[in-house]
Amino acid sequence: MAFSPAFLDELNHRNPIEDVVGQYVALTRKGSNLFGLCPFHGEKTASFSVKPDKGIYYCFGCHKGGGAVNFIMEIENLPYPDAVRFLAKRAGIEVPEDNRDNSQYKKKERLWALCKESARFFNDQLKTPQAQEVRAYIVKRGLSNATVTRFGLGYAPNAWTALIDAMTAKGFTKQELLEAGLVLQHKEKGTFYDRFRNRLMFPIIDVRGNVIGFGGRVMDDSTPKYLNSPETIIFNKRRNLFAMNIVKKSKQGHIILTEGYMDAIALHQYGFDCAVASLGTSLTQEHADMLSKYTDEVVLTYDGDQAGQNATKRAIPMLEKTGLRVKILQMQGAKDPDEYLHKFGADRFQNLLNGCENQAEYRLRSLQRNFDLNNDEQKVEFAKQAAELISTYSTAVERELYGMRAAEMAGLSHDVMKQEIGRAFKRRTAMQKKAQDKKNLEIAAARQPHSREIRYDNLRSAIAEETVLKMLLRENALFEKTKEVKPQDFSVPMFAKAYEALYRVWSQEHSVGIYTLSEVLTPTEMAHMTEVIQRQDHPISEEAFADCLRVILTEARKMSGVDDLKALQEQMRKKKGYGGT
Ligand code: GTP
Ligand code: MN
Repeated sequence: MAFSPAFLDELNHRNPIEDVVGQYVALTRKGSNLFGLCPFHGEKTASFSVKPDKGIYYCFGCHKGGGAVNFIMEIENLPYPDAVRFLAKRAGIEVPEDNRDNSQYKKKERLWALCKESARFFNDQLKTPQAQEVRAYIVKRGLSNATVTRFGLGYAPNAWTALIDAMTAKGFTKQELLEAGLVLQHKEKGTFYDRFRNRLMFPIIDVRGNVIGFGGRVMDDSTPKYLNSPETIIFNKRRNLFAMNIVKKSKQGHIILTEGYMDAIALHQYGFDCAVASLGTSLTQEHADMLSKYTDEVVLTYDGDQAGQNATKRAIPMLEKTGLRVKILQMQGAKDPDEYLHKFGADRFQNLLNGCENQAEYRLRSLQRNFDLNNDEQKVEFAKQAAELISTYSTAVERELYGMRAAEMAGLSHDVMKQEIGRAFKRRTAMQKKAQDKKNLEIAAARQPHSREIRYDNLRSAIAEETVLKMLLRENALFEKTKEVKPQDFSVPMFAKAYEALYRVWSQEHSVGIYTLSEVLTPTEMAHMTEVIQRQDHPISEEAFADCLRVILTEARKMSGVDDLKALQEQMRKKKGYGGT
């Protein structure tokens, strides 16, 4: 075992679950528990719960759960030992015998420090005589000094080892520079050289304020126009958005999503402090989930060209799935927000924002473009498809409003369109109800765990095992009464593992908690354990506890009894063979 029970006990007490979670999630108290929006899946209603008395969190939506260590493992994406160290540091306690300095988290801390120093270096370079060209370029792109400072823009000198020299002088190794994606290694010679040379540099900062990578732009028409840091252990393009560290504090009611660093930066300069950009990749579900944690509404400002339209179409369902409202902003006379703002100014852009289509309007109009509405046949087909589309709109008001709009487009009476939509709506809800019924049936089918990795083969025993573990965690003294029951009597392997670990720690310390299990159970198992523990069941008496122990033992005997019986039959058969005489 890597950490002693005594240390884990201390760690647990010094890191109350509500404080640990509270640093990431806004929690509201309801009775003895706290609720908030789940940080692990996008949602609009709080189904994420924290139970301080039990030291657990649990999400009723995505079924993630565990103790403080599990929370850190999940949210900081750290392996178990690093999550423990993270919490130790948070609480200011020493980790005993912690001399493994090659741990993932320590490495990340080094790379964050390196990227921060590099950003500082690039920024300092702006003042040098060699930065003449980039300073002119900054002016040409209309970036103010305040903007340069706010985004920490910089200049990567036109040299092969400027960054290497500066960073090794600060005590970073070439290996670390390589791991941070800041340098490249020559294939044959093995020598190192700077990845970013003679470029305007954009530091990329995560929501917690760590510099994790860079984008670098050339100052002329050469290619590649932009060079980005590669994926590293601290830089994940699927999970980060440029300027999110600033936008998370924005008071605007929405977030503007752009395609380019320059677009996001220009928007900020013109007073729209709610603009982010993806990192040269298309929007991912992870991005959508993250956005939904900070806002209710996203405005897409992708290019009007085919690629931009496709990107918009792809992004809408991902964003809507998280409950976000989506609006699409379309510009005329400029290809992107950066160009638009410089040409027409902030007021005109604000007008676009105010008047921009919501996705309901956008989708109806996109559909309309596919049809020639002067042709009767096409008119009928449009009406059908429009009805189908509008029937998916979630509010009655929207269905009424866009039904009217579609009727006008097709030159049909509103009543006819309304009927069509009504029929499509009924079909859809009937189908959804059927699907829901099926789902409910499946849920009721058994109190099976949510994860398919964990199965209850013996439901009677499993439920008794649930109760016993739950009671033991609530009242450690009950261990006095479980001496007869051995881990191998448990039918569910993860419960056997949990019981074994809890019993072991209890015999040493006479105090255990769910945190004891973070080390022996996998995150999936831990989530299930948490689900079991937080479930509101009737309070259990000591007699009921004893009954549960009996159930576990009888079921275990039954199982081994099956084997015994077989052995007995085998014996008898053999005997018969002998004693035929
Ligand atoms: P400016 O020309 O500086 O205004 O850039 P833009 O933001 O208008 O760029 P564009 O629409 O061409 O590209 C949008 C985003 O795509 C950029 O911010 C980059 O993240 C990415 N991108 C553009 N060109 C390249 C490239 O050559 N290589 C890579 N890896 N990414 C690029
Ligand atoms: Mn541009």
